Amino acid sequence: MATTSIRDVAQRAGLSVGTVSNVLNRPDEVSPESVRRVQEAIEELGYVRNDAARKLRAGTSTTVGFVVLDGQNPFFGDVVRGAEDEATRHGIAILSGNTDEDVARERLYLDLFEEQQVRGVLISPYSDINPRLERLRARGIPAVLVDRLSADGRFSSVSVDSVVGGRMAAEHLIETGRRRIAFVGGPFEIRQVTDRLAGARVAAENSAEPVGIEVVATTALTVAEGAAAGARILARPRREWPDAIFAANDLLALGLLQALIVDGRMLVPDEIALIGFDDISFASAAAVPLSSMRQPSGVIGRTALRILLEETSDPELIPRQTVFLPELVVRRSTDPPRASQAGRLASGF
Ligand code: RIB
Repeated sequence: MATTSIRDVAQRAGLSVGTVSNVLNRPDEVSPESVRRVQEAIEELGYVRNDAARKLRAGTSTTVGFVVLDGQNPFFGDVVRGAEDEATRHGIAILSGNTDEDVARERLYLDLFEEQQVRGVLISPYSDINPRLERLRARGIPAVLVDRLSADGRFSSVSVDSVVGGRMAAEHLIETGRRRIAFVGGPFEIRQVTDRLAGARVAAENSAEPVGIEVVATTALTVAEGAAAGARILARPRREWPDAIFAANDLLALGLLQALIVDGRMLVPDEIALIGFDDISFASAAAVPLSSMRQPSGVIGRTALRILLEETSDPELIPRQTVFLPELVVRRSTDPPRASQAGRLASGF
Protein backbone atom coordinates (compact mmCIF):
# COMPACT_ATOMS: atom_id res chain seq x y z
CA MET A 1 0.00 0.00 0.00
CA ALA A 2 1.42 3.40 -1.02
CA THR A 3 2.45 5.52 1.96
CA THR A 4 0.11 8.45 2.62
CA SER A 5 1.99 11.70 2.18
CA ILE A 6 1.47 15.21 3.47
CA ARG A 7 0.25 16.05 -0.02
CA ASP A 8 -2.57 13.52 0.29
CA VAL A 9 -3.57 15.06 3.63
CA ALA A 10 -3.56 18.54 2.06
CA GLN A 11 -5.72 17.36 -0.81
CA ARG A 12 -8.22 15.63 1.52
CA ALA A 13 -8.41 18.69 3.80
CA GLY A 14 -8.69 21.07 0.86
CA LEU A 15 -5.71 23.06 2.11
CA SER A 16 -2.18 23.79 0.87
CA VAL A 17 0.78 21.61 1.83
CA GLY A 18 2.19 24.64 3.61
CA THR A 19 -0.89 24.96 5.83
CA VAL A 20 -0.75 21.25 6.70
CA SER A 21 2.96 21.59 7.48
CA ASN A 22 2.14 24.53 9.77
CA VAL A 23 -0.61 22.54 11.52
CA LEU A 24 1.92 19.75 12.17
CA ASN A 25 4.79 22.01 13.21
CA ARG A 26 3.31 25.36 14.34
CA PRO A 27 -0.41 24.73 15.13
CA ASP A 28 -0.63 27.96 17.13
CA GLU A 29 -0.01 29.88 13.90
CA VAL A 30 -2.99 28.30 12.12
CA SER A 31 -6.76 28.91 12.38
CA PRO A 32 -8.72 26.39 14.52
CA GLU A 33 -10.80 25.52 11.43
CA SER A 34 -7.68 24.51 9.49
CA VAL A 35 -6.38 22.50 12.46
CA ARG A 36 -9.73 20.68 12.62
CA ARG A 37 -9.76 19.92 8.87
CA VAL A 38 -6.18 18.62 8.93
CA GLN A 39 -6.84 16.42 11.98
CA GLU A 40 -9.93 14.97 10.27
CA ALA A 41 -7.94 14.22 7.10
CA ILE A 42 -5.11 12.61 9.08
CA GLU A 43 -7.57 10.34 10.88
CA GLU A 44 -9.44 9.45 7.67
CA LEU A 45 -6.20 8.66 5.79
CA GLY A 46 -4.31 7.08 8.66
CA TYR A 47 -1.41 9.43 7.90
CA VAL A 48 1.74 8.93 9.99
CA ARG A 49 4.61 11.41 9.85
CA ASN A 50 7.64 9.58 8.47
CA ASP A 51 9.78 10.32 11.48
CA ALA A 52 11.31 6.88 11.12
CA ALA A 53 12.40 7.67 7.53
CA ARG A 54 13.71 11.07 8.65
CA LYS A 55 15.69 9.49 11.50
CA LEU A 56 16.93 6.82 9.14
CA ARG A 57 18.02 9.40 6.61
CA ALA A 58 19.43 11.87 9.07
CA GLY A 59 21.49 9.28 10.88
CA THR A 60 23.08 7.07 8.24
CA SER A 61 24.08 7.65 4.61
CA THR A 62 26.94 10.04 3.90
CA THR A 63 26.43 9.78 0.12
CA VAL A 64 24.27 11.81 -2.25
CA GLY A 65 23.47 10.45 -5.70
CA PHE A 66 23.72 12.89 -8.61
CA VAL A 67 22.36 11.94 -12.07
CA VAL A 68 23.34 14.27 -14.91
CA LEU A 69 22.26 14.30 -18.57
CA ASP A 70 25.71 14.37 -20.13
CA GLY A 71 28.89 13.76 -18.14
CA GLN A 72 31.01 15.04 -21.03
CA ASN A 73 29.35 18.46 -20.90
CA PRO A 74 31.55 20.76 -18.77
CA PHE A 75 28.41 22.57 -17.63
CA PHE A 76 27.38 19.52 -15.61
CA GLY A 77 30.93 19.06 -14.42
CA ASP A 78 30.79 22.56 -12.95
CA VAL A 79 27.38 21.90 -11.38
CA VAL A 80 28.56 18.63 -9.79
CA ARG A 81 31.69 20.42 -8.53
CA GLY A 82 29.52 23.05 -6.88
CA ALA A 83 27.42 20.35 -5.19
CA GLU A 84 30.61 18.56 -4.13
CA ASP A 85 32.07 21.70 -2.54
CA GLU A 86 28.90 22.06 -0.46
CA ALA A 87 28.71 18.32 0.30
CA THR A 88 32.25 18.03 1.67
CA ARG A 89 31.43 20.84 4.12
CA HIS A 90 28.92 18.38 5.62
CA GLY A 91 31.14 15.30 5.37
CA ILE A 92 29.11 13.94 2.46
CA ALA A 93 30.36 12.38 -0.81
CA ILE A 94 28.77 12.71 -4.25
CA LEU A 95 28.18 9.53 -6.29
CA SER A 96 27.45 10.79 -9.82
CA GLY A 97 26.19 9.02 -12.92
CA ASN A 98 25.56 10.11 -16.51
CA THR A 99 22.41 9.14 -18.41
CA ASP A 100 23.46 10.25 -21.92
CA GLU A 101 19.80 11.26 -22.33
CA ASP A 102 18.84 7.56 -22.07
CA VAL A 103 15.71 6.66 -20.05
CA ALA A 104 16.96 3.14 -19.20
CA ARG A 105 20.20 4.52 -17.75
CA GLU A 106 18.25 7.12 -15.79
CA ARG A 107 16.20 4.37 -14.12
CA LEU A 108 19.30 2.24 -13.58
CA TYR A 109 20.96 4.98 -11.54
CA LEU A 110 17.82 5.71 -9.52
CA ASP A 111 17.49 1.99 -8.69
CA LEU A 112 21.17 1.91 -7.71
CA PHE A 113 20.86 4.94 -5.46
CA GLU A 114 17.79 3.41 -3.77
CA GLU A 115 19.64 0.16 -3.16
CA GLN A 116 22.56 2.15 -1.75
CA GLN A 117 20.14 4.01 0.54
CA VAL A 118 21.74 7.34 -0.37
CA ARG A 119 20.96 10.44 1.74
CA GLY A 120 19.17 12.02 -1.23
CA VAL A 121 19.22 12.39 -5.03
CA LEU A 122 20.04 15.33 -7.28
CA ILE A 123 18.94 14.80 -10.88
CA SER A 124 18.91 16.67 -14.19
CA PRO A 125 16.08 14.58 -15.64
CA TYR A 126 15.67 13.53 -19.25
CA SER A 127 12.26 11.89 -18.90
CA ASP A 128 9.25 12.35 -16.58
CA ILE A 129 10.56 10.56 -13.55
CA ASN A 130 8.31 12.11 -10.91
CA PRO A 131 6.54 8.78 -10.10
CA ARG A 132 9.95 7.16 -9.57
CA LEU A 133 11.11 10.05 -7.39
CA GLU A 134 7.84 9.82 -5.38
CA ARG A 135 8.70 6.19 -4.59
CA LEU A 136 12.19 7.24 -3.48
CA ARG A 137 10.71 9.95 -1.28
CA ALA A 138 8.28 7.47 0.27
CA ARG A 139 11.38 5.53 1.36
CA GLY A 140 12.80 8.64 2.97
CA ILE A 141 15.13 9.56 0.07
CA PRO A 142 14.31 13.12 -1.09
CA ALA A 143 15.17 14.39 -4.56
CA VAL A 144 15.86 17.85 -5.98
CA LEU A 145 15.66 18.55 -9.72
CA VAL A 146 18.68 20.34 -11.15
CA ASP A 147 18.68 22.47 -14.29
CA ARG A 148 14.94 21.81 -14.74
CA LEU A 149 11.81 23.25 -13.10
CA SER A 150 9.50 20.82 -11.32
CA ALA A 151 6.50 21.70 -13.48
CA ASP A 152 3.92 20.34 -11.00
CA GLY A 153 5.78 21.71 -7.97
CA ARG A 154 5.99 18.30 -6.31
CA PHE A 155 9.77 18.52 -5.99
CA SER A 156 12.20 21.32 -5.30
CA SER A 157 14.29 22.43 -8.24
CA VAL A 158 17.24 24.70 -9.00
CA SER A 159 17.57 25.94 -12.57
CA VAL A 160 18.13 28.92 -14.82
CA ASP A 161 15.30 30.59 -16.74
CA SER A 162 16.00 29.25 -20.23
CA VAL A 163 13.12 31.21 -21.79
CA VAL A 164 14.64 34.49 -20.59
CA GLY A 165 18.08 33.23 -21.63
CA GLY A 166 16.85 32.36 -25.12
CA ARG A 167 15.19 35.74 -25.46
CA MET A 168 18.38 37.58 -24.34
CA ALA A 169 20.55 35.61 -26.78
CA ALA A 170 18.31 36.38 -29.75
CA GLU A 171 17.90 40.04 -28.72
CA HIS A 172 21.68 40.36 -28.72
CA LEU A 173 21.92 38.94 -32.25
CA ILE A 174 19.17 41.31 -33.41
CA GLU A 175 20.92 44.30 -31.80
CA THR A 176 24.05 43.44 -33.84
CA GLY A 177 22.04 43.69 -37.06
CA ARG A 178 21.19 40.03 -37.68
CA ARG A 179 17.76 39.18 -39.07
CA ARG A 180 17.88 35.52 -40.23
CA ILE A 181 18.58 33.44 -37.11
CA ALA A 182 18.96 29.66 -37.09
CA PHE A 183 18.26 27.93 -33.76
CA VAL A 184 20.43 24.80 -33.64
CA GLY A 185 19.35 22.37 -30.94
CA GLY A 186 17.58 19.15 -29.92
CA PRO A 187 16.31 16.70 -28.89
CA PHE A 188 13.25 18.75 -27.97
CA GLU A 189 12.33 16.29 -25.20
CA ILE A 190 14.85 18.29 -23.17
CA ARG A 191 12.86 21.13 -21.63
CA GLN A 192 15.84 23.47 -21.59
CA VAL A 193 16.05 23.27 -25.40
CA THR A 194 12.37 24.01 -26.02
CA ASP A 195 12.48 26.91 -23.55
CA ARG A 196 15.51 28.49 -25.25
CA LEU A 197 13.81 28.31 -28.64
CA ALA A 198 10.62 29.77 -27.15
CA GLY A 199 12.62 32.69 -25.76
CA ALA A 200 14.28 33.34 -29.12
CA ARG A 201 10.84 33.45 -30.77
CA VAL A 202 9.67 36.04 -28.23
CA ALA A 203 12.63 38.24 -29.18
CA ALA A 204 11.79 37.90 -32.89
CA GLU A 205 8.14 38.79 -32.26
CA ASN A 206 9.15 41.83 -30.20
CA SER A 207 11.60 43.09 -32.84
CA ALA A 208 10.79 46.39 -34.59
CA GLU A 209 12.07 44.87 -37.84
CA PRO A 210 11.15 41.45 -39.30
CA VAL A 211 13.33 38.67 -37.85
CA GLY A 212 13.18 35.04 -38.98
CA ILE A 213 13.86 32.11 -36.63
CA GLU A 214 14.41 28.75 -38.33
CA VAL A 215 15.10 25.49 -36.49
CA VAL A 216 17.99 23.20 -37.41
CA ALA A 217 17.27 20.13 -35.28
CA THR A 218 20.00 17.97 -33.73
CA THR A 219 19.71 14.55 -32.11
CA ALA A 220 21.98 15.47 -29.17
CA LEU A 221 23.62 18.53 -27.61
CA THR A 222 27.17 17.59 -28.56
CA VAL A 223 30.15 18.99 -30.48
CA ALA A 224 29.71 16.33 -33.19
CA GLU A 225 26.06 17.24 -33.70
CA GLY A 226 27.01 20.91 -33.88
CA ALA A 227 29.61 20.22 -36.58
CA ALA A 228 27.08 18.13 -38.56
CA ALA A 229 24.50 20.92 -38.34
CA GLY A 230 27.11 23.41 -39.57
CA ALA A 231 27.89 21.22 -42.57
CA ARG A 232 24.18 20.99 -43.43
CA ILE A 233 23.86 24.77 -43.30
CA LEU A 234 26.91 25.34 -45.54
CA ALA A 235 25.60 22.78 -48.05
CA ARG A 236 22.77 25.22 -48.87
CA PRO A 237 23.09 27.91 -51.55
CA ARG A 238 24.81 30.90 -49.96
CA ARG A 239 21.67 33.08 -50.19
CA GLU A 240 19.90 30.53 -47.92
CA TRP A 241 22.46 30.75 -45.14
CA PRO A 242 21.31 32.32 -41.85
CA ASP A 243 23.21 35.45 -40.80
CA ALA A 244 23.31 34.21 -37.19
CA ILE A 245 23.10 30.96 -35.25
CA PHE A 246 21.82 30.56 -31.70
CA ALA A 247 23.10 27.17 -30.46
CA ALA A 248 21.13 25.55 -27.61
CA ASN A 249 24.37 25.02 -25.69
CA ASP A 250 28.09 25.71 -25.99
CA LEU A 251 29.06 22.20 -27.10
CA LEU A 252 26.87 22.60 -30.19
CA ALA A 253 28.33 26.07 -30.74
CA LEU A 254 31.90 24.73 -30.59
CA GLY A 255 31.01 22.08 -33.16
CA LEU A 256 29.45 24.73 -35.40
CA LEU A 257 32.60 26.82 -35.09
CA GLN A 258 34.62 23.85 -36.37
CA ALA A 259 32.35 23.54 -39.42
CA LEU A 260 31.79 27.18 -40.41
CA ILE A 261 34.95 27.50 -42.47
CA VAL A 262 34.92 27.94 -46.28
CA ASP A 263 38.13 27.96 -48.40
CA GLY A 264 40.09 28.23 -45.17
CA ARG A 265 38.21 31.33 -44.09
CA MET A 266 36.25 31.38 -40.82
CA LEU A 267 32.71 32.64 -41.51
CA VAL A 268 32.10 33.62 -37.87
CA PRO A 269 31.23 36.44 -37.14
CA ASP A 270 31.29 38.37 -40.42
CA GLU A 271 29.04 36.08 -42.48
CA ILE A 272 27.37 34.21 -39.61
CA ALA A 273 27.28 35.34 -35.98
CA LEU A 274 27.25 32.60 -33.33
CA ILE A 275 26.07 32.48 -29.71
CA GLY A 276 25.86 29.52 -27.34
CA PHE A 277 24.46 28.80 -23.85
CA ASP A 278 26.22 27.85 -20.57
CA ASP A 279 29.52 29.78 -20.94
CA ILE A 280 31.62 26.71 -20.22
CA SER A 281 35.34 27.35 -19.77
CA PHE A 282 36.12 26.44 -23.43
CA ALA A 283 33.82 29.19 -24.73
CA SER A 284 36.29 31.98 -24.04
CA ALA A 285 39.21 29.86 -25.33
CA ALA A 286 37.56 28.98 -28.68
CA ALA A 287 39.29 29.88 -31.98
CA VAL A 288 36.74 32.69 -32.23
CA PRO A 289 35.91 33.53 -28.57
CA LEU A 290 32.29 32.50 -28.15
CA SER A 291 29.48 34.74 -26.93
CA SER A 292 27.26 32.75 -24.59
CA MET A 293 24.50 32.87 -21.96
CA ARG A 294 26.34 32.20 -18.72
CA GLN A 295 24.69 29.88 -16.17
CA PRO A 296 25.80 30.15 -12.51
CA SER A 297 26.65 26.43 -12.66
CA GLY A 298 28.63 26.23 -9.41
CA VAL A 299 25.95 28.15 -7.53
CA ILE A 300 23.26 25.87 -9.00
CA GLY A 301 25.12 22.82 -7.66
CA ARG A 302 25.73 24.29 -4.19
CA THR A 303 22.15 25.52 -3.87
CA ALA A 304 20.66 22.17 -4.93
CA LEU A 305 22.78 20.26 -2.42
CA ARG A 306 21.89 22.66 0.39
CA ILE A 307 18.14 22.33 -0.33
CA LEU A 308 18.47 18.54 -0.49
CA LEU A 309 20.11 18.40 2.94
CA GLU A 310 17.39 20.64 4.38
CA GLU A 311 14.74 18.28 3.00
CA THR A 312 16.66 15.30 4.39
CA SER A 313 16.32 16.82 7.84
CA ASP A 314 12.67 17.74 7.37
CA PRO A 315 10.76 15.80 4.67
CA GLU A 316 7.68 17.97 5.41
CA LEU A 317 9.39 21.05 3.97
CA ILE A 318 7.39 22.53 1.10
CA PRO A 319 9.12 22.04 -2.31
CA ARG A 320 10.41 25.29 -3.75
CA GLN A 321 11.56 26.32 -7.24
CA THR A 322 14.82 28.31 -7.25
CA VAL A 323 15.32 30.00 -10.63
CA PHE A 324 18.42 32.02 -11.54
CA LEU A 325 18.76 34.39 -14.48
CA PRO A 326 21.50 33.75 -17.05
CA GLU A 327 23.98 36.49 -17.92
CA LEU A 328 24.84 37.56 -21.49
CA VAL A 329 28.60 37.29 -22.09
CA VAL A 330 29.59 39.09 -25.32
CA ARG A 331 32.73 37.97 -27.18
CA ARG A 332 34.00 38.12 -30.77
CA SER A 333 31.64 35.50 -32.24
CA THR A 334 28.81 38.04 -32.29
CA ASP A 335 30.76 41.13 -33.30
CA PRO A 336 28.73 43.30 -35.71
CA PRO A 337 29.73 42.51 -39.32
CA ARG A 338 32.48 44.68 -40.80
CA ALA A 339 31.16 47.54 -43.03
CA SER A 340 32.00 45.64 -46.27
CA GLN A 341 30.04 42.67 -45.01
CA ALA A 342 27.16 44.70 -43.54
CA GLY A 343 26.08 45.77 -47.04
CA ARG A 344 25.90 42.14 -48.16
CA LEU A 345 23.95 41.19 -45.01
CA ALA A 346 21.40 43.94 -45.63
CA SER A 347 20.88 42.76 -49.22
CA GLY A 348 20.24 39.29 -47.86
CA PHE A 349 23.28 37.28 -49.03
O1 RIB B 1 22.13 19.25 -21.09
C1 RIB B 1 21.51 20.13 -21.88
C2 RIB B 1 21.86 21.57 -21.62
O2 RIB B 1 20.91 22.01 -20.67
C3 RIB B 1 23.21 21.86 -21.00
O3 RIB B 1 24.18 22.25 -21.93
C4 RIB B 1 22.88 23.02 -20.12
O4 RIB B 1 22.69 24.18 -20.91
C5 RIB B 1 21.58 22.58 -19.56
O5 RIB B 1 20.86 23.69 -19.07
